[in-house]
Amino acid sequence: MLEKMTLMRGDITRLSVDAIVNAANNSLLGGGGVDGAIHRAAGPELLKECRLLGGCRTGEACITGGYLLPAKHVIHTVGPVWHGGGYHEEDLLAGCYENSLKLARDNGLRSIAFPAISTGAYGFPIKKASQVAVQTVARFLQQNALPEKVFFVCFSERDTLVYQETLDELAGMENET
Ligand code: APR
Repeated sequence: MLEKMTLMRGDITRLSVDAIVNAANNSLLGGGGVDGAIHRAAGPELLKECRLLGGCRTGEACITGGYLLPAKHVIHTVGPVWHGGGYHEEDLLAGCYENSLKLARDNGLRSIAFPAISTGAYGFPIKKASQVAVQTVARFLQQNALPEKVFFVCFSERDTLVYQETLDELAGMENET
């Protein structure tokens, strides 16, 4: 499965993939962080389509066009706000990855790029978030033919190093089995 996952550092709005994933909020009406960057790069038509969706529950995902982005689609998902770990935050974050991948599969998309959902404004610890991301994606890829390629796009050097460490841990586990 590792060959289908690629880690990179950069700006997710610049990727020419079938879908980039947006770390949105429940209103889907834009915000800061990667949400703000995606809306700025996609242009006003994205917000117009988002308005028609009527919001999105935490842990769930929905798909729109990509408009002025190089990506064909945006999959919007709403991560959990970190409250210390006792409020099913991990399960909700796993749901963001799982539901985004299901939408990609069901729409016949072959490539998808994820930011580090919930690790910015929502305060989810990056190491645990990277483990949830990598493990959820690896499990889905084992059970589904689509998508064929998943990119983890980190914005900071620090986050990239944490994701690399988590991917190396998974590789170690895969070698043992
Ligand atoms: N490309 C890739 N990753 C980015 C980009 C970008 N252009 N901009 C920011 N990031 C990274 C951040 O560094 C962080 O690691 O995305 C990760 C998620 O951080 P946030 O964007 O703050 O998202 P999140 O923590 O899920 O909080 C969501 O913030 O922007 C608002 O409307 C959004 O209310 C929602 C909340």
